Amino acid sequence: MAKRTIIALPGDGIGKVVLDQAIRVLDAAGFEAGYIYGDIGWEFWCREGNPLPKRTIDLIEKHKIALFGAITSKPNEEAKAELDPELQGKGFTYSSPIVGLRQHFNLDICVRPCRSYIGNPLNFIRKGKGSAIEEPVVDVVIFRQNTECLYSGVEWTNPPAVVHQALMTHPKFRDNYGSIPVDELSISARIFTRQATIRILMAAFEHARKFGYKSVTLCEKPNVIRETSGLMWRLAKEIQKGSFPEISLYNTNIDAQMMWLTKNPEDYGVIVAGNMFGDIVSDAFAGLIGGLGFACSAQFSSGGIAVFEPTHGSAPKYAGYEVSIVNPIAMIESACMMLDYIEEKTISSRIRKAVATVIEEGKTRTYDMMKMTGRPDVIQNGAASTVEMTDAIINKL
Ligand code: NAI
Ligand code: MG
Repeated sequence: MAKRTIIALPGDGIGKVVLDQAIRVLDAAGFEAGYIYGDIGWEFWCREGNPLPKRTIDLIEKHKIALFGAITSKPNEEAKAELDPELQGKGFTYSSPIVGLRQHFNLDICVRPCRSYIGNPLNFIRKGKGSAIEEPVVDVVIFRQNTECLYSGVEWTNPPAVVHQALMTHPKFRDNYGSIPVDELSISARIFTRQATIRILMAAFEHARKFGYKSVTLCEKPNVIRETSGLMWRLAKEIQKGSFPEISLYNTNIDAQMMWLTKNPEDYGVIVAGNMFGDIVSDAFAGLIGGLGFACSAQFSSGGIAVFEPTHGSAPKYAGYEVSIVNPIAMIESACMMLDYIEEKTISSRIRKAVATVIEEGKTRTYDMMKMTGRPDVIQNGAASTVEMTDAIINKL
C-alpha cells in the first residue's frame, strides 16, 4: 500500500517533544507514513511576522491530515517586542496560529474523547456505600462546535456608533445599558449559525449510533441564552426525532452539568455543545480521567481536512528541561484518533492496548500521574521522563 503522508506540526515548547514521541510510537507500531514537517508557531512569528506561513497552509491543503503538537501565544505587547526588529512597525499583528488553522480550514467539528484507563491513579473516585471507594468508568466523547460562539472574534470595546445604534434597537440593551458611556462598554458576540449547529449535532448523533452510545446530551443553557442555545436545542430535538429516534436526547445546563459530572460521570456518553461550553465541559471531563496529560482531540472540516492534537498547550515552563518530564499520552492518543480516522484501527488498538497495559501495571508513571509538582527533580524522585514513558509504551506493543 502507498505510504501515507502526514503533515507534522510540532509548534512550540513541549509540542515539539510530544509530537516526536508520538511519531516514535507510530513507527514502532508499524504505521507506514512519510512525515512532512510544517512551520508553525512563535519562531515564525518572530522571524517572518506570521506564525502560520502560507507554505504550511498549502501543505495541509495538499495532504489533508496533520498531527499538531502545541503552540505558544503571548499578549500583543510581548508579541510586538519579540518580533524581528526589521519587521517592527510594519503593521504585523500576532494572532494564534491554531485559531487561524481552525478558521482557515473551517475545522468546525472538534471531538474530545475522555475515557478512563484502569489503574490510572488520577482517575475520579468517590465514596460509595459504607466505606467503599467507587471508581466509575468514564467513557464520554465531547463534540464541541469549534468555530463560532464567543470565539467568533466579533467583539468590541468602545463599539463604533453604528454598532451602538443597532444595539439600542434592542429593548433589553436600551433599558439596561443605554445610559452607559460607549467607551465603558465591552461586547463579545455569541454567534451560532444554523448550518454549523446542524453539522456538530449530526456528528454527535452519528458517533452515538456508530459506537453504540445510548444518549446524546446537549450541554448549553437554552432557558437563559434563548436565541443561540435555544437554536441548538430546537435543532437537536428535530434531528433526534427525524433521524435518530433510537438515541435518547438529554438537555443539561452547563452549570448543572459541571456539578453532575463530578457526581455521576458514568451517566454520560456523547455530549454536544457550542464552542465555549464545549471547551469548558471537555476540560472538566478530562479532569476526571487524568487531566491534560491524557486529553486528546481531533478537528474536522467539511472539506476533508483533519487535524489531531492534544488539548494541552506548549507548557513553556517545561519546554527547556534537559530531560523532558511531560506526559506524552495525550499526544499519542491524538495520533490514535488519526489512525482511527484513516481506518488503521488495528494499529490504533495495539497502541491503545499498550498504553493501557503500561498504566495498569503502574511501573512507569510521569510526574503528573504521581501527583508531583512539575520540577526537574521529579525524575530523581521516581517519575518517568517523557522518553521513558514512550519507551514503556513501545515495549508493550
Ligand atoms: P498548558 O496546557 O501549556 O499547560 C498548563 C499546565 O498543564 C502545565 O503547566 C502543566 O502543569 C500541565 N500540562 C500540560 N501539558 C502536560 C503534559 N503533556 N503532561 C503533564 N502536564 C501537562 O497551558 P498554559 O500554561 O495555559 O499555556 C501555555 C501556552 O500554551 C500559552 O502560550 C498558551 O497560549 C498555549 N496554548 C496552546 C494550545 C494549543 O496549542 N492548542 C492550547 C492551550 C494553550
Ligand atoms: Mg481549553
